[in-house]
Amino acid sequence: MGDLSIESVRAALDAVVDPTFERSLGELGTTSDLSVEDTRVRCTIALSSPSEPIRREVKRRVDEALAPLGVTLTEVEWKVRVPTRETVSDDPLPSVRNVILVMSGKGGVGKSTVATNLALALRRLGTRVGLLDADLYGPSIPTMLGITGQPQSADGKKILPLQRFGLKLMSVGFLLENDKQAVIWRGPMLHGALQQFIGDVEWGELDYLVIDSPPGTGDVALTLGQKMRITGVVMVTTPQEVALQDVYKGVTLCQKLNLPILGVVENMSYFVDSAGVKHEIFGAGGGQKIADYAKATLLGQVPMDTAVREWGDKGTPVVQAAPDSPSGEAFAKIAETLADQIAVEHFKRSGGEKAPKAEGARRLKILR
Ligand SMILES: Nc1ncnc2c1ncn2[C@@H]1O[C@H](COP(=O)(O)OP(=O)(O)OP(=O)(O)O)[C@@H](O)[C@H]1O
Ligand SMILES: [Mg+2]
Repeated sequence: MGDLSIESVRAALDAVVDPTFERSLGELGTTSDLSVEDTRVRCTIALSSPSEPIRREVKRRVDEALAPLGVTLTEVEWKVRVPTRETVSDDPLPSVRNVILVMSGKGGVGKSTVATNLALALRRLGTRVGLLDADLYGPSIPTMLGITGQPQSADGKKILPLQRFGLKLMSVGFLLENDKQAVIWRGPMLHGALQQFIGDVEWGELDYLVIDSPPGTGDVALTLGQKMRITGVVMVTTPQEVALQDVYKGVTLCQKLNLPILGVVENMSYFVDSAGVKHEIFGAGGGQKIADYAKATLLGQVPMDTAVREWGDKGTPVVQAAPDSPSGEAFAKIAETLADQIAVEHFKRSGGEKAPKAEGARRLKILR
């Protein structure tokens, strides 16, 4: 052998179909730096989602396409370029590629838990992530991430976010004197406070900003939606019927506001006892029902797990403290599916123009 032509390898590689966009890598322009040495191939492939299953599937397809040519080994350097939302001229977050709003319509379903663990799981995939606690009534992110302290300002104008586990964080809770102190914001005040709060934070370049919203209908969605293009909403629900009614309202509100629903997370889905038996304490199928109603994907189901609450109370989210626990794994999978879904959403919206180009792609700093 030893006479593999680079042209034949390039043709085969470019013909590989991307599993997210169902277009060929050649059409998408996502391959670069191809070199062939003997029967070994090296190349760079840019993806628009940091998810491992997508990476594995692309690799499988590449190997399958190149094997018949006599290629014995393909080494791929993976890069990720997370697609970016459109920013309006006075966008308060011009360097934030995606704004993800975690909401429900129902209180106590686990919005803050989901927001925190999703943000951290996205971070652990190597992307740049911020978490904004927009629950000005009852901020819980400082507790969940074990953070106290005052954010600083370098120039007296912009507030610098705090950092924990590689995440950039901002919460009104950081600005309160102690975490037991309750804030009462009335509607118009909330609106003003949030608008200011969001514009005054120096987030820097972020792939994803995850926003935790307060219980109730969409004050935050309404306020933020007026200011900028939100990539989309992650809707959180629990399985039981009583929760669903309120969550339907949340979905309807998003539809009215033209906010895309990226997916649904069903939290506290089931409980696995010490004998390994699964109990659906709150019934089954709620998450799927909401997803169907919203015409969105069910991103995943998170079991009821004492580790979630315990680690949350201790200030280390379960994806960080116990990534191999059932709930830790569920959150990690949900983050990957969400990242894929965001890529798909951009692709749909732009008619294919936002396919990941190799230029501007970053090598991931995977933290696992
Ligand atoms: N999957 C889970 N397993 C066990 N406990 C959970 C799970 N999800 C959330 N919890 C616990 O349930 C409680 C409520 O969760 P959380 O504060 O995230 O809900 P929320 O929707 O943000 O509430 P609020 O509407 O008050 O903002 C917390 O004590 C949390 O630790
Ligand atoms: Mg909350």
